[in-house]
Amino acid sequence: MGEGSVGNDGHRGGYGDGYAVRAEGLEKRYGEKRALDGFDLAVREGTVHGLLGPNGAGKTTAVRILSTLIKLDGGRATVAGLDVARDPREVRARIGLTGQYAAVDEVLTGRQNLEMFGRLFHLGGRRAKLRATELLEQFDLTDAADKGVGKYSGGMRRRLDLAASMILAPAVLFLDEPTTGLDPRSRGEVWESVRALVASGTTVLLTTQYLEEADKLASQITVIDQGRAIADDTPDGLKNLVGGDRIEVVVAERSDIPRVVKVIARVSDGEPEADEEELRVHAPVTDRVSALTEVARTLQDDGVQVEDIGLRRPSLDDVFLRLTGHRTEPAGDGRSGGGKSGDGKSAASAKSASSAESAEKEAVV
Ligand SMILES: Nc1ncnc2c1ncn2[C@@H]1O[C@H](COP(=O)(O)OP(=O)(O)OP(=O)(O)O)[C@@H](O)[C@H]1O
Ligand SMILES: [Mg+2]
Repeated sequence: MGEGSVGNDGHRGGYGDGYAVRAEGLEKRYGEKRALDGFDLAVREGTVHGLLGPNGAGKTTAVRILSTLIKLDGGRATVAGLDVARDPREVRARIGLTGQYAAVDEVLTGRQNLEMFGRLFHLGGRRAKLRATELLEQFDLTDAADKGVGKYSGGMRRRLDLAASMILAPAVLFLDEPTTGLDPRSRGEVWESVRALVASGTTVLLTTQYLEEADKLASQITVIDQGRAIADDTPDGLKNLVGGDRIEVVVAERSDIPRVVKVIARVSDGEPEADEEELRVHAPVTDRVSALTEVARTLQDDGVQVEDIGLRRPSLDDVFLRLTGHRTEPAGDGRSGGGKSGDGKSAASAKSASSAESAEKEAVV
């Protein structure tokens, strides 16, 4: 840590087993609902670990238990080498949390927000000011420091949120869907900040609904569904599972679908899938550009009217289809599709599978 900084990162490095977070068989019930149902997780020290799952999978519940905001009903968890049930205070002193919805005050300036958080953490006026200046610099907010947060872009606000959770330079930082609802540029800015945090020694557990985001940031990804880990793999491992990139063709006439299936099968290393409803055929490809060129040319020569053709990166939905045999579904408990406000995410993921896919496609342009 730099001179004059006020963090408590003396705890970084060495929890014995090399894991900054460990959860075994976590249980959390809300009435009949099992929000967590035997959830396991192991996050290596000094890494970004992605917790990937759809609406209502249990991501926020896991983060809230690990950050000691709520109590577990069963299982056990350690964070920074400390048991969350036995030593919640000590755990709290070593972690930071950026919740799913922004916590900064709109009326205050960026600097005032950070100074306020500093005082909340008992830094004292002078140290709080010093730390605010450092963090504004680190998160590239110095120029906007004295503007009201109400005037910040979504990305700037999220960065300020990250900065606020870094006041004490925590050993472990929990980020709950840090970029949901952000435009691609702001999303990229937040990714940069997360990378910088990890470079400075923090371990990050990041929840997301975007495979692309987990892929960009995380070295290991746990996929969560209905309160359970259903996969734990590297980004490459998960992408291999879903067959990597896909070529996708949308036609104008349903009668052309069998023809398109045949043409795509020639360039694909997997079985083409046809969606009769949406007049869409897609299949995995490895040699992306040549596959695209070949299919486009052949279909044109055949006189098939193509509405859309393109390459698509695998989405969370594709991962789910492979792992569970079904697509991601809305939580189905009345919370999604408008039950929550703020970022339009619930509504988006309650839509059909293909709109969820195109949402991701947009997000990664
Ligand atoms: N306070 C609560 N009371 C009752 N049920 C809850 C509560 N919190 C969460 N749940 C339920 O537990 C399940 C898991 O919710 P959780 O918020 O952890 O999911 P999530 O993966 O964070 O979803 P999202 O992507 O929508 O944020 C959901 O079915 C949810 O409705
Ligand atoms: Mg959540």
